[in-house]
Amino acid sequence: MKNLKNYNIKDKKILFRADLNVPFIDGVITDTSRIQAIKSSIEILISNKNKIFLMAHFGRPKGEIVEKYSLNFILPSLKETLNLDKVYFLDKFDHDSVEKIINEMQAGNLCLIENIRFLKEEENIDLNFAKKISSLFDVYVNDAFSASHRNHTSITGFPKFLPAVAGNHMMLEINSINSFLNNTKKPNMAIVGGSKISTKIQLLNNMIEQFSAVAIGGAMANTFLLANNYLVGKSLVEKNLIQEANNIQLKAAKFNCELLLPVDVVCGKNIHDTNPIHRKIDEVLPKEMILDIGEASKQSINNKIINSKMVLWNGPVGAFEFKPYDNATNAIANTIKLNAKKLNINTLAGGGDTVSAIKNTHAEDGFDYISNAGGAFLEWLEGNESPGVKSLKENNLI
Ligand code: 3PG
Ligand code: MG
Repeated sequence: MKNLKNYNIKDKKILFRADLNVPFIDGVITDTSRIQAIKSSIEILISNKNKIFLMAHFGRPKGEIVEKYSLNFILPSLKETLNLDKVYFLDKFDHDSVEKIINEMQAGNLCLIENIRFLKEEENIDLNFAKKISSLFDVYVNDAFSASHRNHTSITGFPKFLPAVAGNHMMLEINSINSFLNNTKKPNMAIVGGSKISTKIQLLNNMIEQFSAVAIGGAMANTFLLANNYLVGKSLVEKNLIQEANNIQLKAAKFNCELLLPVDVVCGKNIHDTNPIHRKIDEVLPKEMILDIGEASKQSINNKIINSKMVLWNGPVGAFEFKPYDNATNAIANTIKLNAKKLNINTLAGGGDTVSAIKNTHAEDGFDYISNAGGAFLEWLEGNESPGVKSLKENNLI
């Protein structure tokens, strides 16, 4: 795969796919790591006097112009992070508008294109559009690992018409995740949380084959508890997936993978209830909701972590956005922070919520690598190489 280390790009016009889908809450970007992520690639391309067009999405406007999803808001942060005085902004991504602005730009300038998902051509994979736009550029760079699981024009369309190159962050994500997955040391454990088992069935099936232990937390654990005939009151649960939960448990037994399910929980009347009640797993009342794993369950995950050689983490084990139901998730982050280096445990984490929890507890130091990808991280762990990475590998226009 061509990348910025083995392929030199100088004095060219570049179409650059970034993932600028940053968390933006009440007018504030709460995490700039996706902007930081492209810095290394952009700096090289600027110093080599290329004209760079940044192409990215924000939210899911689905082919319509939706003002609140305009990428305009990111310009100040982009300039600051990349140390640039000026960044051009292109609000109409068509042949003539691109051509006009290319002529205005100097070598080494950067232009941000308005939210690519304002265009129907993005999700419809419009190859005529891709071809026409590509005629104005020399090279396509993809530095958006976290968006490369989407089969969209900006990910898989342009590499059909332009020499395609992986950016530095793309390479870092692929190499870091693969190096963790390909260098197995046993015993190893995966911690899988989140609200829905439906989104993680494939992941669990894959993890069971590769890990000595899989700890399951978050609301997805409730479906397993129900499958094991425990009453879960008003908790979130996916009743239609009870059979699936049973299949996963049978498969775990077959592969000798220890499944750690909660043995005690923390309940509230709802997520805003600040008077949590600890319950053994067979004591949950009909009016209660399970919102975190309990003390004993937390201890058993923490013990398993310190006795493992590798730990993979995806998904919080409780409703961590609502205090005090962040307790067990924070405790896991802290256990990893305090022990990983000391005990030589290899650690990998990813997924938006998991990364937030790690940042909230300042536990970054405990991780060998933290992926800034959500869905793309999950799909990679399921064993699927993303369409964007395939497009880069298959590109033969260089
Ligand atoms: C993400 O935030 O995970 C990526 O930017 C992909 O966004 P999407 O799930 O809307 O495709
Ligand atoms: Mg997402």
